Amino acid sequence: MLSRFLSVTARLPDRSLHAGAAPPPPHALVKRGIRRESLPRHVAVVMDGNGRWAQARGLPTAEGHEAGGRALERTVRLSRDWGIRALTVFAFSQENFGRPQVEVDYVMALIQRMIRKNLDEYVRTGVRVHVIGDPSRRPASLQGTVREAEEMTGNNSRLHLALATCYGGRWDIVQACRQLARQVEGGALKPDDIDESLLAGKLATSVVGELSCPDLVIRTSGEQRMSNFLMWQSAYSELYFTDALWPDFDEDEYLRALKSFQGRERRFGTRNV
Ligand code: FPP
Repeated sequence: MLSRFLSVTARLPDRSLHAGAAPPPPHALVKRGIRRESLPRHVAVVMDGNGRWAQARGLPTAEGHEAGGRALERTVRLSRDWGIRALTVFAFSQENFGRPQVEVDYVMALIQRMIRKNLDEYVRTGVRVHVIGDPSRRPASLQGTVREAEEMTGNNSRLHLALATCYGGRWDIVQACRQLARQVEGGALKPDDIDESLLAGKLATSVVGELSCPDLVIRTSGEQRMSNFLMWQSAYSELYFTDALWPDFDEDEYLRALKSFQGRERRFGTRNV
């Protein structure tokens, strides 16, 4: 299993916020007729298909995750440069603990390595890093890196990057309920005071404040399901599915998803007449 899996292988100010006039929209957006003013504010992605990408090339699964890591770096840069405000990516689910231990360990190490590798760039370019999910299930070394990244990028706000790691949508709702239950138990809250906004304020995504619900959820690799991602937060998200495997998700694919988003009519249960 091991050999089949393993690969061959100062805080700075967020200058973007203090820029003068708004920069012109990036060329790629203009060329595709994408309106910058109606981009999704929050994009969420189920990064699926690394294993199949590797398998199709006769490579070990780990190589697929490495290529997936490069696709993630690309997607973060594009999101930042296009003016998307929040990007939440499903990097590891609670259910993914059911994968072979060697793969679990590899993905955890990859996430840590990617945060470390990109941290200076994120600090410099206004990306704020959040890692959401059950911290008690993360390896201690990853947890240390997470704390450091969240602290070093804590003053940034150009793009919120939330890495959903050891995350599950149902877990998120349960942990939010527990927090509220404790407040009720302590007498700080009455059950009838609990409403949607109080519960939403306890969800892991509340770290991105008013941006906590994705406008657009993208899933790669041809699967058309949520797999326990942002179950509460995606109630009114637009869903976009592509057959592209995650490592192949490039600028062109991202632009196609944005174009599709801009062709949708969002009604939120009301009538637009
Ligand atoms: C959900 O489908 C997909 C995910 C939780 C993403 C998993 C991705 C990785 C483990 C690789 C992470 C990549 C990087 C670059 C850090 P699923 O396969 O968990 O669920 P399903 O069985 O319903 O398809």
